[in-house]
Amino acid sequence: MLLRWWWSTVVFFICIHGFRAQQTYVNNKQLDCDNNYTTALGYTCTSTATTTCRSYLTFRSQPPSYNTPSTIASLLHSNPDDIAVLNNLSSNSATIPANTVVVVPIRNCSCSAGGFYQHNASYILGSTDETYFSVANITYEGLTTCQAMIAQNPYNYRSLVVGNNITVPLRCACPTANQTAAGVRYLLTYLITWGDSIDFMAKTFGVSIQSILDANELTESAIVFPFTPILIPLTTEATRFISAATPAPPPSPPVIPVAPSSGGGSSSKWIFVGVGIGVGLLVLVFVTGFLVWFFRKRKIQHKNNLLPSKHSPNNHQIPPESKSWSMSSQGIRFAIESLTVYKYDELRKATGDFSEENRMKGSVYRGIFNGDFAAVKMMKGDVSGEINILQQINHSNIIRLSGFCLHQGNTYLVYEFADNGSLSDWLHSIVKNTKYGSVLGWKQRVQIVHDVADALNYLHNFVTPPYIHKNLKSSNVLLDGQMRAKITNFGLARSVDEDRDGELQLTRHVVGTFGYMPPEYIENGLITPKMDVFALGVLISELLSGKEAATRPPEAVGDEEDKVKDTAEDVADPQQGQLSEMIKEVVGGDNVRDKLTEFMDSKLRGEYPVELAYSVAELASKCVAADLNDRPSVAEVFVTLSKIMSSCFGEAREEGEGSVEGSIISGKSR
Ligand SMILES: *[C@@H]1O[C@H](CO)[C@@H](O)[C@H](O)[C@H]1NC(C)=O
Ligand SMILES: *[C@@H]1O[C@H](CO)[C@@H](O)[C@H](O)[C@H]1NC(C)=O
Ligand SMILES: *[C@@H]1O[C@H](CO)[C@@H](O)[C@H](O)[C@H]1NC(C)=O
Ligand SMILES: *[C@@H]1O[C@H](CO)[C@@H](O)[C@H](O)[C@H]1NC(C)=O
Ligand SMILES: *[C@@H]1O[C@H](CO)[C@@H](O)[C@H](O)[C@H]1NC(C)=O
Ligand SMILES: *[C@@H]1O[C@H](CO)[C@@H](O)[C@H](O)[C@H]1NC(C)=O
Ligand SMILES: *[C@@H]1O[C@H](CO)[C@@H](O)[C@H](O)[C@H]1NC(C)=O
Repeated sequence: MLLRWWWSTVVFFICIHGFRAQQTYVNNKQLDCDNNYTTALGYTCTSTATTTCRSYLTFRSQPPSYNTPSTIASLLHSNPDDIAVLNNLSSNSATIPANTVVVVPIRNCSCSAGGFYQHNASYILGSTDETYFSVANITYEGLTTCQAMIAQNPYNYRSLVVGNNITVPLRCACPTANQTAAGVRYLLTYLITWGDSIDFMAKTFGVSIQSILDANELTESAIVFPFTPILIPLTTEATRFISAATPAPPPSPPVIPVAPSSGGGSSSKWIFVGVGIGVGLLVLVFVTGFLVWFFRKRKIQHKNNLLPSKHSPNNHQIPPESKSWSMSSQGIRFAIESLTVYKYDELRKATGDFSEENRMKGSVYRGIFNGDFAAVKMMKGDVSGEINILQQINHSNIIRLSGFCLHQGNTYLVYEFADNGSLSDWLHSIVKNTKYGSVLGWKQRVQIVHDVADALNYLHNFVTPPYIHKNLKSSNVLLDGQMRAKITNFGLARSVDEDRDGELQLTRHVVGTFGYMPPEYIENGLITPKMDVFALGVLISELLSGKEAATRPPEAVGDEEDKVKDTAEDVADPQQGQLSEMIKEVVGGDNVRDKLTEFMDSKLRGEYPVELAYSVAELASKCVAADLNDRPSVAEVFVTLSKIMSSCFGEAREEGEGSVEGSIISGKSR
């Protein structure tokens, strides 16, 4: 029951594990041109015996340029007659209808100096818009990768010019010894497209599903992606491509394979290509799963399995999202090592029996422990996830957890106290009390943004395992006595699990705050560090404009923990009234200065340097790019903000780390 709940609501992992030393599926790594994944560079030469072999590629007819045997042969450095014969075409100049799969015989697929099987073609760049990526993905339809071209061409990625003659290493492979032993004579490089499945490929090429899985080191539960090549082991010479599909399956939501159940139900037998819902977006979404890999470089010190795998029932850590789990004894033991365990009576005493005057917000109380203030937050159920995260984190811009207490099924967390409350109160509170009646100055705002980026950079890049906060927003940014920012509320945070190399993190349980959630998360439940970057962009826009992240929330604003649960269906017209859309509007097009001045918080009374404000706004708009690949990493944001900070503070820096007293700090207005 518990397990079922878990599977159905939390996270689905997609795993592609190598289990036989054949060739590794490229697994969308070809989209990440900046990284040198071996599998993206080519299929490795497995056998010293076979350094050259015959092989087959597939290519989809691409009018107007590549839709005859001659043009395709010249693009792929093949022989036009071979193509015409094999595909039963009347001549070398016969027109092939668009998108028809053409089987292209390759006489020599050979092992290159780099140790990869490849067939060299060359391509002359014909337009300034072309990049290694576009040539690989569009012109060559995925038969090569940007990484392989970068590795084998002298031209820098950024300095490609029209007329460059680039080497295009096409992916092909020769059978391994085991495959040869099993009767495989050729490997055909097939280009997956929307709607394909391994089942379909097996039927079309008349081979077994298992042989395809083995050839590509895929498991039954794996997922494959459109525009990637997959190897089909053939025991006979290839014939013309005749689709085994009765009409192509209609687009349907992507099938996110459930981790195999003990029975290995038939539904997990196939590999599906994600199809359908907003095809373009989906590509991007899948594309970006690999971003997660950035964070998997280091070896894990302790296994932080997010899935309560049946094979390892003794996990020490409890999944961060498993709110309704009861805290296990292991969970507590883990936490105790570095935290104070309070007695309930101590908390009662510190908070005046949880009195109203000590209540700060919702279920958060002010308490005094040995003369120092602390915040005590009462939470229902299991919060071991948050405890486990916070107890291993130590950063001045992240609220420190000092201890906790378990009492009658509730967990009380004791945190560092932030004197100046939450950023959202400062920005949006209409209450003119003494504290929030004053206004955050320009420099304070820049400092806050910088602090938040610093904290996220730490979470993403300096913690093992790295974490995604997942719920960054102005009410989760607290300000201390010096108006320095500290992020809090790690209730939704989750680790980027390093153990599971090569997977996307997806959830069907979309939880977050409207206005701060990026489109790929709302629509597909994709969780990547770029999720925090999006929220940071919204937060920056909020600090610039003083406006709320979303002016028109689709639901009443949250419970006392300030969490709004939106399911994708509830978000009607999600673009409407969102700061993330407004900021893009502000920095795009004409009259930027006017639009920016209009956008900026009127409470700043124009007291900010317009050029720097523009730089900040521009950064924010990049952070909220709809396509998560267009968003900078947190590290990049942090670097940019550091530069802006130093222009902002200039010589004034020495006055104590830029913590500025007074409520209105004027920048040099130009
Ligand atoms: C070949 O197959 C055998 C048995 O199936 C296996 O033990 C061996 O590791 C395989 N070798 C390679 C290179 O795949
Ligand atoms: C890719 O790897 C090769 C060696 O395997 C190395 O020479 C090259 O510098 C790497 N390129 C990048 C961009 O990391
Ligand atoms: C090849 O094409 C011709 C017409 O161009 C057709 O008559 C013939 O049946 C085709 N052969 C096969 C094997 O499909
Ligand atoms: C293919 O390889 C063979 C042997 O390695 C070589 O003799 C032949 O010239 C090559 N053909 C082409 C077209 O490269
Ligand atoms: C293919 O091109 C690469 C890079 O130019 C070169 O190193 C390699 O030897 C070529 N391979 C063949 C078989 O010509
Ligand atoms: C790769 O090419 C395909 C086919 O043209 C296109 O639909 C897809 O969007 C491209 N992928 C990216 C990431 O641009
Ligand atoms: C491009 O380079 C290849 C060898 O790398 C050569 O065979 C081909 O003729 C060149 N193309 C042109 C147009 O110069």
